[in-house]
Amino acid sequence: MNIKIVPLPAEKMKTKISDQSKLGFGKYFTDRMLMVEWKAGQGWCDVRIEPYAPFVLDPACLVFHYAQEIFEGLKAYKWADGRIALFRPEMNARRFNQSGDRLCLPPVPEELFLKGIEQLVSLERDWIPTAEGTSLYIRPTLIAVEPVLGVKPSDHYYFYVILSPVGAYYAAGFNPINIMVEDQYVRAVPGGTGEAKCGGNYASSLKAGLEAKKKGYDQVLWLDGRERRYIEEVGAMNMFFVYGTHIVTAALNGSILSGVTRDSVLKLAPSLGYTVEERQIDVHDLMADIRSGKVTEAFGSGTAAVITPVGKLCYMDECLQLTGGNVGEVTQRLYDTLTGIQTGKLKDEFGWVRFVE
Ligand code: COI
Repeated sequence: MNIKIVPLPAEKMKTKISDQSKLGFGKYFTDRMLMVEWKAGQGWCDVRIEPYAPFVLDPACLVFHYAQEIFEGLKAYKWADGRIALFRPEMNARRFNQSGDRLCLPPVPEELFLKGIEQLVSLERDWIPTAEGTSLYIRPTLIAVEPVLGVKPSDHYYFYVILSPVGAYYAAGFNPINIMVEDQYVRAVPGGTGEAKCGGNYASSLKAGLEAKKKGYDQVLWLDGRERRYIEEVGAMNMFFVYGTHIVTAALNGSILSGVTRDSVLKLAPSLGYTVEERQIDVHDLMADIRSGKVTEAFGSGTAAVITPVGKLCYMDECLQLTGGNVGEVTQRLYDTLTGIQTGKLKDEFGWVRFVE
């Protein structure tokens, strides 16, 4: 695969933020981006890494009207020995195409996805922050750019990848967040797009998120769209509930995102002596188990959020505190182990890390 490198003029190089504790999430972008086009009758073409710049797009483009688009999120870390590690990027490549299939987007060859990201990250290596809790967030995106108002799959697409040096996803960092179980709005229904990583899922979550924020919660936990009874996910995270040394998460049912961090927790936890279970979780049973003290901890998992402890869970009129509002021992151990593997402080027994040349 031949990637053309468009020169980056010195005047287009940005100043990097010097205080890494001020990075926040997704506010700064590096100097370059990967850009590829797909055209009907031609396929993938014009693979290039070029200076980061705004697009000029026709206002009629399909992505603006009918949201034919998907995206991914993964991270690169700079290890103490100078090597650059990507965490399980093959999983993102696979999920990208599964999402794309649901939205009738052309599959991106895995080699193009992985090699394109590797070369871009390699060129932008000076942008990878190294302070505790920071990383380079990678955002691959595929959008429909044919300018036409008929509802149909596009005949022209942009696949692009941008990079953002980031700190913690939540402003509070690795501290417990408060979650409200959403009982009015739903995120996904069986047969819908819940399992795909597409922008529409996030757009439709905004109203519930804003209303929850007004009431003092950080996030909403979605219930299933049919019965509004079974735990699904938190939009930016999958959810786990800890019963002593037993860890439970909602089984994938077609309307939950199949998280890379979720999968990593399910594989990592048994190696730390915990048992794991994927099953349907009835919100009423869950609240009863928290009330009785059977549930000792809860946490969310996601690429951006990593492992996020939950301090309070509220459903209807009842608010229950978890782990005394503190970070639980199991949550802490999983966070330390996962981030230890990602940053090279712990041995990668699972073969999850892929180095960038
Ligand atoms: C990620 O965790 O990478 C995501 O894509 C979630 C997004 C809402 C930040």
